[in-house]
Amino acid sequence: MAAPRLSATAQAHANIALAKYWGKLDDAENLPATPSLSLTLDRLFSRTKVSFEPGLSEDTVVLDGTRASEPRRARVSALLDRVRKLAGFGHRAEVRSFNNFPTASGLASSASGFAALAFAATHAAGLELAPSAISDLARQSSASAARSLFGGLVELGAGERVASPLSPASPLDLRLVVAVVTAESKAVGSTDGMRLTRETSPYYGAWVAHAPAVFERIRAGLLEGSFSAVGEATEQSALLMHASMFGADPPLVYLSSTTFAILERLRSLREAGTLAYGTMDAGPHVKVLCLPESVARVVSSLEEIPAVRETIICAAGPSAHLIEAPV
Ligand code: DP6
Repeated sequence: MAAPRLSATAQAHANIALAKYWGKLDDAENLPATPSLSLTLDRLFSRTKVSFEPGLSEDTVVLDGTRASEPRRARVSALLDRVRKLAGFGHRAEVRSFNNFPTASGLASSASGFAALAFAATHAAGLELAPSAISDLARQSSASAARSLFGGLVELGAGERVASPLSPASPLDLRLVVAVVTAESKAVGSTDGMRLTRETSPYYGAWVAHAPAVFERIRAGLLEGSFSAVGEATEQSALLMHASMFGADPPLVYLSSTTFAILERLRSLREAGTLAYGTMDAGPHVKVLCLPESVARVVSSLEEIPAVRETIICAAGPSAHLIEAPV
């Protein structure tokens, strides 16, 4: 008789950092050098099914309907190896995953992807782990994924192994409008980009030294309900991070002229009384932080910029969870 199929399907939502993580204290352990604080998003998620099957000879990984490249498969297998070790078995797995992000949006998927993988794999293996233990597993694959285990506002301290929800909760009801811009060049992955920045940028040390103070301003603003304080420090965190990248050799420039056109537009909106602030990750897209009453004005203003391809209005999303839907 065939052994029972050990299978689970999970959904984890993307997150965007207000206080950025960029740089590692330890490459092998994947410990972040800067404290980060993010918002998990309701509209963008990854769904991942993991099936451990006793007869399989290797892990197979299908992402968005296509067999994953070898480096990606190896990164998935490394997480599965950690789960197999905890479960005390050697079964290989079949992994299927998809992102609901709009095609060609260029939005990073490693956070929600590895969070969904860690959640599904640990449940498929029958492990009864606390969310923080699953956050630790996800972090070892991609540190931002540690944050996608939790819903709403989530923090991950420098050198920390697990993320946790901001506590007490912030009184602010935040919105994040993702402005998807035309991608102009091939991006360097975050892991490689961080290594290059640390090894070659004269500004890396200044970024790491200054990041905790900006993180604290964001955290305090969230707890006090001061939206302008949160927004100003959020924009500063992104610009300090990107300044450290500009100093790399060769320079790491993820931002485009459209990125700056959007930041300029946000400044005009603020001068006219609409508070909206931008943040950017390893790509040219701008994620605009605002309050619910400003969403309509922000969206119509962003859509006037020709290179803005699409806007996605997001609010706080849920923690990772199991689902029944097929993947
Ligand atoms: C710019 O978590 O993708 O999005 O740990 O090497 O996988 P690895 O990096 P990753 O880095 C995310 C960097 C960022 C900022 C952030 O999300 O905090």
